[in-house]
Amino acid sequence: MLALYSIKGGVGKTASAVNLAAEAAADGQRVLLWDLDPQAATTFYLRAKPKVRGGVARLVKGKAAYDKVIRATQVDNLDLLPAALASRELDHLLAEQHENQLRRILKPIRDDYDLVILDCPPSLSTLSESVFASVDALLVPIVPTVLSLRTLEQLRGFLDERDIPCPVWPFVTLADRRRTLHREVIDSLPERWPLRLSHTIPSASVVERMGLERAPLRSFAPRTAAAQAYRQLWGEVAQRLG
Ligand SMILES: Nc1ncnc2c1ncn2[C@@H]1O[C@H](COP(=O)(O)OP(=O)(O)OP(=O)(O)O)[C@@H](O)[C@H]1O
Ligand SMILES: [Mg+2]
Repeated sequence: MLALYSIKGGVGKTASAVNLAAEAAADGQRVLLWDLDPQAATTFYLRAKPKVRGGVARLVKGKAAYDKVIRATQVDNLDLLPAALASRELDHLLAEQHENQLRRILKPIRDDYDLVILDCPPSLSTLSESVFASVDALLVPIVPTVLSLRTLEQLRGFLDERDIPCPVWPFVTLADRRRTLHREVIDSLPERWPLRLSHTIPSASVVERMGLERAPLRSFAPRTAAAQAYRQLWGEVAQRLG
């Protein structure tokens, strides 16, 4: 289980969740993308309606409930657990359970998927803590600015303070190598963040077009630099997962 996570908003979590999930699916993995953000952008990109009938609470009740909420998408091998829910409902549910709550919620359907990807809202909350406890790694998009690096340090501080052993795999997105500052930030990452992913997602208008096409890049612009960058990034992630 992986999460696209960042304290900072608007850094490409959702774009990355959708594209990485589509690449993994194209690679033959059975993928479930769980949209944890009540803004439901992932759900929108994959043309699913943002509603979980009966709310998330029913999910814990057994496998039959999942068939009603999980949707197949237009992408082969890629299913979606749509944004539900008042996140308050989910927070409440999580507060009642123990560690690894998200894993436990998914337990009845765990064997149906090879990979679960979480698209998280930009916050540090009860929900994020259960994300940290449940995933194998946090994929953290970094816009190459000083502020973005600062929020990455804040995340590390939070995890260290609480002894949360969740690996952080930052990667650079919205990058423009023609800009000196971007280049400097990108080049400074390896030293401080040895677990960073080496493939960088360029800033490209075709990524913004995902909102119009309502599809992952590989479905409508597979030969663009951004689509190829996501393919390579997925390759690197897949290799680490083993
Ligand atoms: N590589 C890119 N090049 C150009 N635009 C991008 C790129 N990645 C994302 N964007 C655009 O930036 C905006 C924010 O991206 P996205 O929604 O993926 O971020 P997010 O981190 O999920 O935001 P939020 O924190 O609000 O959930 C969107 O309009 C998206 O189209
Ligand atoms: Mg998002």
